[in-house]
Amino acid sequence: MLTDAQLLGAAQRFGTPLYVYDAAELDAALARVRNAFADARVFYAMKANPNLTLLRRLRSAGVGFECVSAGELARAVKVGAGGGEVLVNGPAKSAEEYAEGARLGATFVVDRAEEVQLLPPRSRALVRVNPALKVSTHDHLATGAASSKFGVTLLEAPQVLEALRNAGHQALGLHVHIGSAIRDAGDFAAAFSRLTELKEAVGPLEVLDVGGGWSLDADLDGIARQARQAAATFGAQLWVEPGRYLVAGAGVLLTGVVGRKHTGRDFVLIDAGMSELIRPMLYGAEHPVRALWQRGEAATYDLAGPACESGDVLARDVPLPMPQPGDVLALGEAGAYGAAMSSTYLTRPRPAEVLWDGDWQVIRRRENAETIWAAEL
Ligand code: LLP
Repeated sequence: MLTDAQLLGAAQRFGTPLYVYDAAELDAALARVRNAFADARVFYAMKANPNLTLLRRLRSAGVGFECVSAGELARAVKVGAGGGEVLVNGPAKSAEEYAEGARLGATFVVDRAEEVQLLPPRSRALVRVNPALKVSTHDHLATGAASSKFGVTLLEAPQVLEALRNAGHQALGLHVHIGSAIRDAGDFAAAFSRLTELKEAVGPLEVLDVGGGWSLDADLDGIARQARQAAATFGAQLWVEPGRYLVAGAGVLLTGVVGRKHTGRDFVLIDAGMSELIRPMLYGAEHPVRALWQRGEAATYDLAGPACESGDVLARDVPLPMPQPGDVLALGEAGAYGAAMSSTYLTRPRPAEVLWDGDWQVIRRRENAETIWAAEL
């Protein structure tokens, strides 16, 4: 964990808003995953944070990639991943994604029966099953509910595996991913046990891919135990696809205090907002806030960004000791889906990203107006 002094130093040197990552935290998260899921193959869901430097680091630790777009496939190729290390997933894959996945020899995650016909000849494939379960996370983050767009039903799954084999594909096994930021190990247990109900219908499988979705404080050992049991039911190798768990805790968003304002509420105005971190607005996500200064008694404030939208509030009721312009705040658990989902709304340059690994390394330069409009005519 980076110290306040280190974070302040980074803010001074690189400016705010700034995404800061700690290599040691990333390595530690991977070690925890490897420890809990001992024999599993790990495919990092790069949507959580696709920075090439982070991808290179994970790849050199033997991690593969779960990709959901041609752009993500290009990133996997860019960091030297081969087909055996790449999963091509997504509910509406494009012709380009099928072609590029085939060129690489990647494994496809089939999301609907029609894909059996769309896959390139002799593809390696998993069938994504929708276990039709309600799970304890924000509605937008739940992907295994009957009403969600993902996967095939438990009833369809054996037929899709059969259809894959009949069409000359390599049907490796089943895939399930029930959502993101899930705390309750019981949700995973319920999903995995639904899958094992398919044992008689599908017989032994090479692979059981149980996705990701673990919140930072989830009981990893408990989830792993259930996953291993489910894989053993099929005699399958276990595959996992963590995104958030690997990178969330390794990153903070540093933001500078611009001023204070009192309306019907007490606000601290900050230089980061919905364009830099959309998760509070989109999912009601709560990122822990750390003040990098000490000064007298704390009062509570809402942290409001620079956007001309009332929803542009990154945290509410945060106790802060007399914030003043130039003070710096660290928003935690921002390594996943922070920079990845940042935008240039309001022609605001996306922040720089820096990595601490014994010294500072800029791993993404700050944008500017010219880089933002570079593709416009
Ligand atoms: N595998 C599949 C098939 C997925 O769809 C996802 C995430 C993952 C793995 C990784 O899930 P994770 O371990 O990161 O929870 N933008 C949202 C998260 C969306 C996740 C989408 N799929 C957020 O900011 O929380």
